[in-house]
Amino acid sequence: MPQDKTELPPKIPTHVGIIMDGNGRWAIARGLPRMAGHRAGTENLRRVIEACIDFGIRYLTIYAFSTENWGRPQEEVQGLLRIFENVIDRELQQLYDMGVQLRHIGRLDGLKPSFQKKVLQAVEFTKKNDRLILNIAFNYGGRDEIICAIQRMIEDGVRPPEVTDELVNKYLFTAGVPDPDLIIRTSGELRVSNFLLWQGAYSEWYFSSTYWPDFDRQELLKALFEYSHRDRRYGLTPTTP
Ligand code: IPE
Ligand code: IPE
Ligand code: MG
Repeated sequence: MPQDKTELPPKIPTHVGIIMDGNGRWAIARGLPRMAGHRAGTENLRRVIEACIDFGIRYLTIYAFSTENWGRPQEEVQGLLRIFENVIDRELQQLYDMGVQLRHIGRLDGLKPSFQKKVLQAVEFTKKNDRLILNIAFNYGGRDEIICAIQRMIEDGVRPPEVTDELVNKYLFTAGVPDPDLIIRTSGELRVSNFLLWQGAYSEWYFSSTYWPDFDRQELLKALFEYSHRDRRYGLTPTTP
């Protein structure tokens, strides 16, 4: 439901990244199994996507499963894979109707073929949408992304002097996507955990102690207001004396 526009901060980031953390602790605090937290986190994601659209954010990148998360107990790993598949099955049409273009960042190989096919079909199905570009980082690691880019540059015979910022950008999973202006991490953890290492070079960070399933529209708005007051200097001198 679009809200009254007067509630919006003066400056809206083009691209927001979110490290959706704290699902497990949210569940444990309620005496529930960790998977209940992941399900609640997925419900919340739908609400946050709607809010992003209402607030005029153009790109949203969400960290759903890291290259390190494979090391969790198998039951949880399988549960997370199932949740992602179910989201595509159940929510794709609704996301399409909302004007969302779905993209995947991370390594698709390593995921089972039927899963890969589902992701590629969802990407293809929504590719003409442009209201919100939603990058889902699944089986994603910032280091892995850089390694993958270097490997492909070597395969393509790129010569050392040709390696520039611009060229590296083209080889990353996020090719064509502007760098994130704002990265939010929920649950009180103050670390990067391998998320958008290259792209986040000059992102503004916002940390919230709220667990992801409770990080609602108002919490997002708080982050956006805080962002709108930041002076982004990119290594230069202050823009306001
Ligand atoms: C984030 O919640 C979701 C994923 C990493 C898949 P966690 O599962 O990390 O929750 P906590 O940090 O253990 O509370
Ligand atoms: C980062 O959260 C990964 C995702 C949110 C998908 P983690 O919970 O896996 O990260 P650490 O272990 O706290 O660094
Ligand atoms: Mg965590």
